[in-house]
Amino acid sequence: MKYFILGYLILIALLANTLFQDKELAESMERGKEIYADFCVTCHLENGEGVLNTFPPLAKSDYLAKNRESSIRGVKYGQRGEMTVNGVVYNNTMMPMGLEDEEIADVLNFVMNSWGNQQDKPVTPQEVSEIGPR
Ligand code: HEC
Repeated sequence: MKYFILGYLILIALLANTLFQDKELAESMERGKEIYADFCVTCHLENGEGVLNTFPPLAKSDYLAKNRESSIRGVKYGQRGEMTVNGVVYNNTMMPMGLEDEEIADVLNFVMNSWGNQQDKPVTPQEVSEIGPR
């Protein structure tokens, strides 16, 4: 009986924790959606589709899915030079937009969980703060 109650309490705690994290992510994405509309949509477009050969797509981007740290770094410090996204080579420049670490986390949480993208681990401001220039 004692173990049953203990097990039950642990289950409740785990469930509450999951629900809390889901809510945190949902709120971060909500803020990120606005940042996207203000800072990113001009190049990466409404549904993250980008412009072939000029602005790489964010929707279903293999680069974004596989290069978490470089993606964060690119938004934080800017990104230039050759990069391959979904088999297409881009060699262009994205200037840094002067966003706060929290805004970078929010916009990436939105991008990483929209248009068919899914990222299990949310980006936190702490994680962004720890990434330096290349
Ligand atoms: C002025 C146009 C422009 C704006 C605005 C812009 N980007 Fe980019 N972005 C680019 C270009 C160009 C590249 C590729 C740079 C290169 O060729 O090295 C890129 C690359 C990226 C990449 C990595 C490649 C990929 O497609 O997965 C990510 C992630 C990204 N941008 C996210 C963002 C986010 C988030 C914002 C808004 C906060 C943003 N960008 C705003 C032009 C832009």
